[in-house]
Amino acid sequence: MPTDGKKASNAELSPETLTAQALGWIDEATGAIIPPIHTSTTYERGGDLEYPRGYSYSRSSNPTHAQLEAVLARLEGGADAIVVGAGMSAVALTVTSLSQGDHLLVQRKLYWGVRKWLDDFAGRFGLALEYVDTGDLDAVRRAVRPGETRLIWAESPANPTWEVADIAALAEIAHGAGARLAVDSTAATPVLSRPIEYGADLVMHAGTKYLNGHGDVLAGVLVTAREDDWWARIKAGRQDLGTVLAPMEAWLFLRGLRTVHLRVRQASENALAVAKALEDHPKVSHVLYPGLESHPDHALAHRQMSGGFGGMISIRLASGRDAAVRTAAALKVFKRATSFGGVESLVEHRASIEGAGTPVPDDLLRLSMGIEDAGDLIRDLERALEEV
Ligand SMILES: Cc1ncc(COP(=O)(O)O)c(C=O)c1O
Repeated sequence: MPTDGKKASNAELSPETLTAQALGWIDEATGAIIPPIHTSTTYERGGDLEYPRGYSYSRSSNPTHAQLEAVLARLEGGADAIVVGAGMSAVALTVTSLSQGDHLLVQRKLYWGVRKWLDDFAGRFGLALEYVDTGDLDAVRRAVRPGETRLIWAESPANPTWEVADIAALAEIAHGAGARLAVDSTAATPVLSRPIEYGADLVMHAGTKYLNGHGDVLAGVLVTAREDDWWARIKAGRQDLGTVLAPMEAWLFLRGLRTVHLRVRQASENALAVAKALEDHPKVSHVLYPGLESHPDHALAHRQMSGGFGGMISIRLASGRDAAVRTAAALKVFKRATSFGGVESLVEHRASIEGAGTPVPDDLLRLSMGIEDAGDLIRDLERALEEV
């Protein structure tokens, strides 16, 4: 926690207010409402060799991080949070907190980068890695090994097919076997879903996406339900490996985060409007969006997500891969680029990014909804589909 800021009495305030005001911190030295960027890597020690203000060296902690982390912990309803240099660093810190021989049970459908890294790393690190279809809770029950499974890793909604994981059920299974549940909640954001409320032990975000929301910061976030030994090991990992977020990035991240409620709600509204507009389109065979009543996870999404279903949609083209690639090429308002969660809408042909062996169908286009006018986005898609 920053020692140079003043916290308003804010227990009763809503998340929207707390986030817009970054918990109401005011810089004590100057009265500034927008926090300074603390670039110093080192902090003055007292004559007694103590650090009277709580900071020593910025690989351990930094006031610019501390303010951001306090907001993130509050938004997720967690006990503590850390920010790191990328979403992948947050994944890596979590996985490397395990020990040789531990069983790690991972959702089969999830962000490709995580699967690619785990496939390479887990064996070399001596972890027993196993994938499971988290949509089939009986399969999860069969796969957990009491006393051996240390962690279940889920992602909800899952990139890029947007299945929703039943967090409460997974937490119950994990805890029954003496394991913990970590949830990559990047696509949901705490605006729509707070996994700790459903029993998750750890929440992870690629802050690169919606939380920062402006496509100009690479960052990762971990939020813990409780400050226990496991959390201490994860935090020590950040310090020891130096996977810290630079102060300038942390400052930009906090600036972006202040508007997360507005952005995520607008993106969710746009996504629902686009999903409905394309649901019966003759050139689209599937619209993958949990906000649609026809989606198999709709009832679960309704229960677990509040205020919207997220800004991410995938569509599958009835005529296959070439139609998908040509549709992406014909779009004008949507930009062809990877990543998601920014204010501008993006389109991506995922299979060609993920390469050979990907489970993602090659007729699939991933759409990241920005905050533009929904009519412009729908017209762009309809025109592009008309042309192919
Ligand atoms: C769901 C999900 N988790 C984690 C990551 C990794 O985040 P980063 O690119 O910030 O390392 C991504 C990146 O696309 C993602 O989509």
